[in-house]
Amino acid sequence: MTPSTPVADVAVIGGSGFYELLGDAHPVEVDTPYGKPSDTITVGAVGKRGVAFLPRHGRGHAIPAHKINYRANLWALRSLGVRQVLAPCAVGSLRPELGPGTVVVPDQLVDRTTARTQSYYDQGAVHVSFADPYCAHGRTAVLKAAAATGTEAQDGGTTVVIEGPRFSTRAESRWYAAQGWSLVNMTGHPEAVLARELALCYTSVALVTDLDAGLGAGEGVAQDEVFQVFAENIGKLKALVLETVGLLPEDRTCPCGQALEGLDLPWGLP
Ligand code: ADE
Repeated sequence: MTPSTPVADVAVIGGSGFYELLGDAHPVEVDTPYGKPSDTITVGAVGKRGVAFLPRHGRGHAIPAHKINYRANLWALRSLGVRQVLAPCAVGSLRPELGPGTVVVPDQLVDRTTARTQSYYDQGAVHVSFADPYCAHGRTAVLKAAAATGTEAQDGGTTVVIEGPRFSTRAESRWYAAQGWSLVNMTGHPEAVLARELALCYTSVALVTDLDAGLGAGEGVAQDEVFQVFAENIGKLKALVLETVGLLPEDRTCPCGQALEGLDLPWGLP
C-alpha cells in the first residue's frame, strides 16, 4: 500500500469497546512520520463510500487515552484518502437529564488535557481556527441518521476533555458542570484539533456511559460501568454510525477543507 493511494474517504475512529465495524473489509498497514497508528486500519465500503475503520485504543484497548498516538492516527487516515471523520466515543455525563445510553452530538469542547502533543506544526506559524471544533455538516448527518434509525440524540453540548487516566474528583466534576459543560471524556482532544490541522471534517458522536462523580452517588465512576454500558449500546451506536456514513455529503462545502488556506505550511499534507 502506498500511502497516497486513496482507498477510503470516510473514517470511523472507534472508542472504548468499539473495535470492529465493517464485515467485508481488508486490513491496511500504514506508517507515518509520527509512527504507527493505534492498530491495523480496515477498509471496506458502506454503500458508495469507502470507509476506513481504526480503533483508537487498539483492539482490546491496549492503549490508554493519554498514550494514544493521535498524530499518527489522523495522518494515517488522511494518507488513505480520508477527508471526513466520524468519532464515536464514551463520555461521562455532567447533566442528570443525559443518562447512560444517551447519544449526544456535541458542538463544543474544552481542553483540560495537560501532557499531549496537540499540533503537527512544530515549526513556523500555523494557527488554525478552532472556534467550532466539529464539522457542522457532519453533525447534521448524525442527527438525520439518528432520526432515521429511531435513535434519540441530543443536539449540541460541550465536552470537557481531561488528561486521565484517572476519572475526575467530585469537585472537578461539579466545577465542570457549573461551567455549563455537558460531557466529560479523555479522547476528544487533541483528536479534534489534529483533524482540523489536516483540513479534515471531524464529528464527535458521544455515548453517555455514566453519570460523572459530581452527579453520581456512591463511589464515583468505575471503569467496569463505562465498559458495560458501552457494550450494551454498541449495536445502536454502530447502526447510527453506518447510517451517518450514507448521509455525509460527498462534496464538502463546509469550511473544514479550507482550514489551512493562506497558511504557510512547513510541509505538505499526505
Ligand atoms: N469516559 C467515559 N466516562 C468518562 C468519565 N466519567 N470521565 C472521563 N472519561 C470518561
